[in-house]
Amino acid sequence: MNPVKHVAIIMDGNGRWGIKKRKSRNYGHKQGLKTVEKIIVESLKKNIKFLTLFAFSTENWKRPKNEIKFLFSLLESFLKKKIKDFHRQKIKLSVIGKKNFSNKLNNLIYKSEKLTSRNNKLQINLALNYGSKSEIVDTFNIIKKKGLKISEKTINKNLYTANIPDPDILIRTGNTNRLSNFLLWQIAYSEIFFEKKLWPDFNKKDYNRIINNYKKIKRNFGNI
Ligand code: IPE
Ligand code: IPE
Ligand code: MG
Repeated sequence: MNPVKHVAIIMDGNGRWGIKKRKSRNYGHKQGLKTVEKIIVESLKKNIKFLTLFAFSTENWKRPKNEIKFLFSLLESFLKKKIKDFHRQKIKLSVIGKKNFSNKLNNLIYKSEKLTSRNNKLQINLALNYGSKSEIVDTFNIIKKKGLKISEKTINKNLYTANIPDPDILIRTGNTNRLSNFLLWQIAYSEIFFEKKLWPDFNKKDYNRIINNYKKIKRNFGNI
C-alpha cells in the first residue's frame, strides 16, 4: 500500500457549477470553499501531511475584473475567519506563488503564515498567483544569484515548494484533462486523477475513492 504524504488539487469547475445552478460564477466560487473545508477535514483524518490547493493562477488575471475582485475578497474573508481554527488544529498555512498582492493581503498572508509556522499536523500550500513556468524561471534566477550550479538538487531546493515532498497524487476536478501550468516540475511522478465532477460537487467519498485507488497502484519510478 502506497503511503499518501502529499495531495495536490486543481480545484476546477466552480464557474460552470454556479451557472448550472442558474446563479452566477461567483456563487460557484463561494460554494467551492465549502468543498475546500470538507477536503481539509478529510485530509486531517487521513493524516495527510501536505495538501496543495490551486486557488488562483498567474493566467487567471485574464478574467473579468469583478470575478477577480470577488475571488480575492472571498479568500481574504476565508483566511480571516479560519486562521485561528487552522492554528488550533495544528495546520500550517503556506502561500506559494508570486506574493505581490495589495499591502492588506500581503500582510494578512504574512501574519497567517507566521502564526501557523510551527504547526506540523498538516501543511496547506495555497497556490495563489501561482504559475509553474514563472516558478521555474524564479528558481533559476535564484540559483544564478547564489552562484550555484544548476542541478536537480539545487532546483528542488529553490522552488517555492522547497522542503515539501513531491505530490503523490494530483487531482483535477471539472472534467478537463490538462495541467494549466500547475507544479509541472513537481508532478513528474505523481499519480494523476482527472475527475468529471465540478469542484463544488466533489465530496469526501470521491476523495476517499481516489486515495484508495492510489494506494493500490504499482508505482515504478522507472523500475519494473
Ligand atoms: C475554479 O474554477 C478555479 C479558479 C480559477 C478559482 P473555475 O472558475 O475555473 O470554473 P470553470 O472551470 O470556469 O467552471
Ligand atoms: C486552473 O483552472 C486554475 C485553478 C484551478 C486555480 P483554470 O480554469 O484557470 O484552467 P484553464 O484556464 O481552464 O486551463
Ligand atoms: Mg476552470
